[in-house]
Amino acid sequence: MANNDTLLNLSEVNKQFDGLLAIADVSFHLDSGEIVSLIGPNGAGKTTILNLISGVYPPTSGEILLNGEGISGLKPYQIAKKRVARTFQSVQIFQDMTVMENVLLGLHYRLRSGFVKGMIHWPAERKEEKGAIDQAGGTLEKLGIDHLAYRKADSISLKEQRCLEIARSVVSSPCLLLLDEPAAGLNIRETEEMADIIQGLRQQGLTILLVEHDMNLVMSVAHRLIVLHHGLKIAEGSPEEIQRNPEVIKAYLGGTQSAKR
Ligand SMILES: Nc1ncnc2c1ncn2[C@@H]1O[C@H](COP(=O)(O)OP(=O)(O)OP(=O)(O)O)[C@@H](O)[C@H]1O
Ligand SMILES: [Mg+2]
Repeated sequence: MANNDTLLNLSEVNKQFDGLLAIADVSFHLDSGEIVSLIGPNGAGKTTILNLISGVYPPTSGEILLNGEGISGLKPYQIAKKRVARTFQSVQIFQDMTVMENVLLGLHYRLRSGFVKGMIHWPAERKEEKGAIDQAGGTLEKLGIDHLAYRKADSISLKEQRCLEIARSVVSSPCLLLLDEPAAGLNIRETEEMADIIQGLRQQGLTILLVEHDMNLVMSVAHRLIVLHHGLKIAEGSPEEIQRNPEVIKAYLGGTQSAKR
């Protein structure tokens, strides 16, 4: 049940794409400081839920509240200004830019001078620029990739690129972070490191909605899980409850490689 600590609340949300009801009457909430994981088979509607929350498209019906305020129908930049950040299932970074420049992009709407203009400027802009570079550097350090700050983004590993995308999302101090399969393509050791990173972000005060297929990662970090199947929420509960839920085992956990690991 939603309560005073509720940061995000979805209520009877539907999303119709032409003939397909991709999300069917889905309701759930996130309390501040929680890590909640959204799991389910391919095509279940997980990314669609993140797209609805982040404003890629509006729900067909239903309500999405952030801190009690309706955000359905707002544009992605308006939702970003309300301190909702996200990453993407396939990493979306600017390959030709440096790691530092990519992270600075995460600050652009905060800066008055609009920094990716160049590097010459009046003192006020220079001061703002220096502040931004310090902030981006601090965020890269937290993600363990500060040593790569001046490397081109296409020259770093997939794990480092996923960390970079997270750095760009969190540099502006969001309250809610939506992660879409942050461990996809990572090996077991890298996935464990990603679990530590996610725990660290939460300890810094972030509330996290985590979409992920790697059940070791999900079960180790999530406080609660929500299971989607064909756009329907089929279960919600603690990691222990979800792992022994017969419907979830039948629809998902019984049949995935990740779940067997
Ligand atoms: N923009 C769109 N237009 C039409 N159909 C879409 C659109 N986005 C998603 N869908 C459909 O909605 C359903 C849910 O897709 P979604 O990408 O949310 O699944 P998912 O749970 O993220 O799957 P995966 O684990 O493979 O990433 C799928 O049938 C998909 O084809
Ligand atoms: Mg997806």
